[in-house]
Amino acid sequence: MTKKLALEGGVPAVSGEMGRSAVFTWPVFGKEEERAVLELLRKRDFADEVEVPSFENEFAEWCGTRYAISQNCGTSALLTSMYAVGVGAGDEVIVPSATYWATALPAFSLGATVVFGDIDRRTLGLCPHDVERKISHRTKAIVVVHIFGHPVDMDGILRVARANNVRVIEDASHAHGTQYRGKKAGTLADIAAFSLCGKPIHVGEGGMIATSDDALRERCLAWAHNFRFNHLEVKNPDLLRYAGLPLGGVTTRMHNLSAAIGREQLKTFDRRMQEVNEAMNLFWDLLSDYPGLEAHRPDQSKGSTMGAWYTPHAIYHADQLNGLSAAGFARAVRAEGFPTRTRSCLTEPLHRHPLLQVADVYGHGMPTRIAHAERDVRELDAFLPNTDAVRTLTVPAFKLCDKETIQSYVDLFKKVIDNHPSLLANDPGDGSAIPDVRGDA
Ligand SMILES: Cc1ncc(COP(=O)(O)O)c(C=O)c1O
Repeated sequence: MTKKLALEGGVPAVSGEMGRSAVFTWPVFGKEEERAVLELLRKRDFADEVEVPSFENEFAEWCGTRYAISQNCGTSALLTSMYAVGVGAGDEVIVPSATYWATALPAFSLGATVVFGDIDRRTLGLCPHDVERKISHRTKAIVVVHIFGHPVDMDGILRVARANNVRVIEDASHAHGTQYRGKKAGTLADIAAFSLCGKPIHVGEGGMIATSDDALRERCLAWAHNFRFNHLEVKNPDLLRYAGLPLGGVTTRMHNLSAAIGREQLKTFDRRMQEVNEAMNLFWDLLSDYPGLEAHRPDQSKGSTMGAWYTPHAIYHADQLNGLSAAGFARAVRAEGFPTRTRSCLTEPLHRHPLLQVADVYGHGMPTRIAHAERDVRELDAFLPNTDAVRTLTVPAFKLCDKETIQSYVDLFKKVIDNHPSLLANDPGDGSAIPDVRGDA
């Protein structure tokens, strides 16, 4: 007999204690990280002359690019990458709306115009066909996001980009170790930006740019690394005229304590990811015959993997559960003991935010988004059907392949799916505000 739902007075499927177990603990900092940080503190070594370049070299080698350029965070890595590929006033940059704001907003600082592309319903990343529709003679760059670690359809994106002479930036912030057709995220386009804060490789605060292009690397250093903007590191005479002062008027270099942590994290990262992959694939395999939840993971037989599984998600199919809303399903899951969220960046797309619609940040007397634009790109926001329709839920992020714990959470989801008919009568619907784990409505 099916057990009674916790929402209806039954016993929760898992206890809160289980959610705090080592199976979910991340990041994992060991003695090595402690030693590395303490050594630097005791030496009073805060210069970024040893740890930072070593981390850059090791990161580039791990990623498979010729260069890695450290940054103080992922947002800076995106801004610097946009400048590097030539984004400037009046240019259009195509980005997904279903992403964290940092993928899009650096374009504002460069005077560029943000154009939103729709997402693919399976990858949840930019859809190449929609990008093709939204491209114009002003488009300078496309920023793809391997959202939650799922690689974007890069063949399609690169085909459209190359045909239109547009540069491609990977926002690989969620995709450390993700593979697309056997190649690592970060090596798939012109340049890539990684956040290293709260992400699979976690250094405290930090970001990294990866590229194999000499000219792009030099532009990155010129923009935001004033101490390295000199004739030893930069050869381009047009840039060198301004050596010594950062073109961006900012310095976004990495702290050496972050680099020291990152170097240690890299040593164990691939081994840890292997276990995460095993655990997450087992979870999804055990749920594969159940309706309602589609695994957000690529087809491994094509050489693509999730790598990092940063905030793993299910794509929710209400039609397979008699129309029960994602919010109604999530409420029952939460009562069973797993704090799922439906309100990740996918259900709060950027295009609806007033900052992207009306804010005049720089006092141009018009919305910043179109301050230098040739067309009112906000009208294109009406054509994001997948972004507007897709519903997702977070699922447990297993870090260890503990079969017993994984089975408990599989049983939790099965319990809610089996009992879903009883939830229909009090379904709050997806328009309602379901508080997320931080408690904001
Ligand atoms: C997709 C994406 N891009 C960029 C960033 C920005 O990274 P940071 O917080 O290190 O600036 C984040 C942060 O969560 C992100 O999720």
